[in-house]
Amino acid sequence: MKILVTGGAGFIGSTYVHQVLDQHADDAIVTLDALTYAGNPANLLDLSDHPRHTFVRGDISDASLIDDLVRECDAIVNFAAETHVDRSLLEPEAFLRTNVHGVYVLLDAARRYGRRIVQVSTDEVYGDVPAGIFSTEEDQLAPRSPYAAAKAGGELFCHSFFVSYGVDVVVTRGANTIGPRQYPEKIVPLFVTNALQGLPLPVYGDGLQVRDWLYAGDHAAAIDLVLRHGKPGEAYNIGADNERPNIELVRALLAHLGKPESLITHVPDRPGHDRRYALNWTKIRTELGWEPARTFAQTLNETIDWYMSHPEWWQAIRQPDSEFETYYQRQYAWRLASATDENGAVATK
Ligand code: TYD
Repeated sequence: MKILVTGGAGFIGSTYVHQVLDQHADDAIVTLDALTYAGNPANLLDLSDHPRHTFVRGDISDASLIDDLVRECDAIVNFAAETHVDRSLLEPEAFLRTNVHGVYVLLDAARRYGRRIVQVSTDEVYGDVPAGIFSTEEDQLAPRSPYAAAKAGGELFCHSFFVSYGVDVVVTRGANTIGPRQYPEKIVPLFVTNALQGLPLPVYGDGLQVRDWLYAGDHAAAIDLVLRHGKPGEAYNIGADNERPNIELVRALLAHLGKPESLITHVPDRPGHDRRYALNWTKIRTELGWEPARTFAQTLNETIDWYMSHPEWWQAIRQPDSEFETYYQRQYAWRLASATDENGAVATK
């Protein structure tokens, strides 16, 4: 099978590309990536001479390019997306463009050529989930951030193309994912690389928000099973039962790094911050036989170890005057200036 992997130079996408090339000797991959800030050629550097891999730079919204690529491939797995909630609060329009219109362009080509498409989505489409409740695939989509709304919009287009035109589309909804090569705007790579530099770790609000933590390699394996065996028109939750409040995740991270908890700095919260996401992922376990291979400690520690052993990867991103630095200043400078300690007192650092 020849698979078009869109967004394949990003975090989970590049994990998927490597895994498929390693595990399926008969498969070839065409990676398409726009190489915006999070798509990084360094993520695929080791594949530059790979006989079963081709890289194309381009945007999923480019209908004529997509037509050419979909015609020559057997299936599409779409990782291409704007992914960061905080950026969606600062500049929502790019999210609408890529996560909704871009998905539409892929669906339209899949329809023309009769291809299967896997749309990689997120648990955030379910919105804030009360303690004790686990979202199932039948639950209502109730996104609350511009990011989650755009991902839900992309999903609804997928569903409509299945119902209206019979397009063979399958959706995955993954939990918070960590692992090698994640752009350091997300909490774990941001906090690891901050801690390694002795910088404060900006915890939003009380830090009691809960997420479920999944390893990228486990997530990629689930997506691949869905590509090969998922039922047309269905959605599959991909969770890990690793629910942790952020503050607990951050303490575990500092303990593994051997860095002091005094780096923890409570800063003003993200507006509309969802308190909890949690998935019921019985469907993928019972129907497709998937489960994550790693515990919470393995998921977190393998991730941290990768950033510790690849400083050249994240230092190239965290340069003075870089895109990262501009974003970091915009997102965090005022927050850190009004930081408080655990008791709400103004912090001295
Ligand atoms: P993030 O990695 O942005 O994923 P998401 O919001 O999509 O789940 O954030 C994970 C959690 O960590 C979320 O509750 C927000 C919190 N967080 C902080 O407290 N500080 C930060 O600097 C970041 C980036 C996130």
